[in-house]
Amino acid sequence: MIGRLNHVGIATPSIDEAVKLYRDVLGATKIHEKFKMEEQGVWVCFVDVPNSQIELIEPIDESSTITGFLKTNPLGGQHHVCFEVDDLLAARDDMVAKGARVLGEPRIGAHGTPIIFVHPKDMGGVLIELMQKPEAH
Ligand code: CO
Repeated sequence: MIGRLNHVGIATPSIDEAVKLYRDVLGATKIHEKFKMEEQGVWVCFVDVPNSQIELIEPIDESSTITGFLKTNPLGGQHHVCFEVDDLLAARDDMVAKGARVLGEPRIGAHGTPIIFVHPKDMGGVLIELMQKPEAH
């Protein structure tokens, strides 16, 4: 069963430019340091909003999966939605049992807990990330 909305993933050609939008135009005050997720080929930067987070994602290079997304969405755009679950492996098995395609094996996500992605074709056109609920909250 899905829990709290943890974050909305937003692909962008430039985290620095996107941060200006969230900070200067929308007024977000808590912007975390961007960091590299080498295995995913992306830079990630979290922006806190009162009830959730925005995850800004910028490709490191052409080999990133985000690169393809930006080819069809040059301005960037909403890439995925992430919900917390109590038990990631149980959630994965549940998705598979219900016929939803899970993309790859569980891996460690940007918050340091295991995650999976569920195919948008089985999720009404939305790429869904499920993440093991972090300990602190
Ligand atoms: Co995410």
